[in-house]
Amino acid sequence: MEGKTQASRGTFQEKASMAPMMQSKDFTMKAMRFHEFGGPEVLCYEDVPKPVPEFGQALVRVKAASINHIDIWAEKGVYYKPSLPHIPGSDAAGIVEEVNAGDESFVGRKVIVYPTLACFHCRLCIEGSHNLCANHKTLGAHVNGSYSEYITVPIKNLMRMPETLRFEEAAALPLTFTTAYHMLVDRAKLQPHETVLVLGAGSGVGSAAIQIASLLGANVIATSSTEEKLRKAQRIGADVTVNYTEESWAEEVMLATNNKGVDVVIDHVGAATLAKGVKCLAKNGRLVTCGVTSGNEATINIRELFMSQRSILGSVTGTMRDFLAVTKLAAEGKIKPVLDSAYRLRDARKAQERLLSRESFGKIVLVP
Ligand SMILES: NC(=O)c1ccc[n+]([C@@H]2O[C@H](COP(=O)([O-])OP(=O)(O)OC[C@H]3O[C@@H](n4cnc5c(N)ncnc54)[C@H](OP(=O)(O)O)[C@@H]3O)[C@@H](O)[C@H]2O)c1
Ligand SMILES: [Zn+2]
Repeated sequence: MEGKTQASRGTFQEKASMAPMMQSKDFTMKAMRFHEFGGPEVLCYEDVPKPVPEFGQALVRVKAASINHIDIWAEKGVYYKPSLPHIPGSDAAGIVEEVNAGDESFVGRKVIVYPTLACFHCRLCIEGSHNLCANHKTLGAHVNGSYSEYITVPIKNLMRMPETLRFEEAAALPLTFTTAYHMLVDRAKLQPHETVLVLGAGSGVGSAAIQIASLLGANVIATSSTEEKLRKAQRIGADVTVNYTEESWAEEVMLATNNKGVDVVIDHVGAATLAKGVKCLAKNGRLVTCGVTSGNEATINIRELFMSQRSILGSVTGTMRDFLAVTKLAAEGKIKPVLDSAYRLRDARKAQERLLSRESFGKIVLVP
């Protein structure tokens, strides 16, 4: 859609100022919003003003949203401190209802949203690194997000929704799959003959990483906390599974590789797993980290790191190119978001409690 938004800008300029007034018939909508920082209990289901698309934005009727751990951070006011009251939610799939200064033919289209709001004109954006944009914001963490009936987003951030997916599946795609793709392809530069260890298979990032790594031809070892989750990990592409509740999980990973170690580790858990993850690396192995669910700090053996020429790589969301790649793979049916459960929007508290209980496998979806 990106190219088309440039078309006929002059023609749409006048419509731009009039469109919101003419088309936004209802001025309120339902949303889950918080007025103070805290746990899921701070979420309130309430009537809020329906957003009006600004110049270059679309109004999207949310048909499904999905829950990510970033919603929990924003709600707690940890790592992100949005102004209050705030509506969380980075992932959405829906239908375009209005465009302000864009191609009117977008109206009525089913879309998914690239959740990184980049400026698209700084040096890093021009180089394609939208995830590193100096002015970068994340939908739902910095600005109001998708736990609502409507959202406004830049038209440039919209992608046609793959017809092969239902709204619930499409809403589970953007953040976690784009992140997992960026970690494996751009950061780890995974090769088909390599072995990948995916930690915490039950998370959104983990369940996406297993599928992408398997599709790329790698041998996948996955860790999770229950036998049922390990079976689910196998069904989506894990070749070997290890229960991480056993103290000896890293030794088991080493045994599975004949003590050679793995080429790539995908870690989003942080403090609880990073040091052992590094120990599981083969020579020239790369650990890619994107999350700190269990804490920020870890101690590693520096000598072991350099003697085996291992690398620890940071990774933040993914580029627009990564988002396009995962959308295409989903459209072709090569990857499919794993749905754990769906809740009504008004039950978002329960949905978040499930995420925090670590009982879920895959994505939890909200339906307005
Ligand atoms: N850098 C980025 O751009 C980026 C993008 C997306 C996500 N993230 C981060 O990545 C992390 C994952 O996010 P998510 O939304 O996919 O999923 P999530 O909700 O955080 O995943 C929950 C799962 O993580 C695993 N887990 C949690 N605590 C653990 C612990 N102490 N030890 C071992 N495993 C543990 C469990 O896996 P099992 O179910 O297998 O037991 C649990 O079910 C979050 O910290 C998030 O902020 C970062
Ligand atoms: Zn930029």
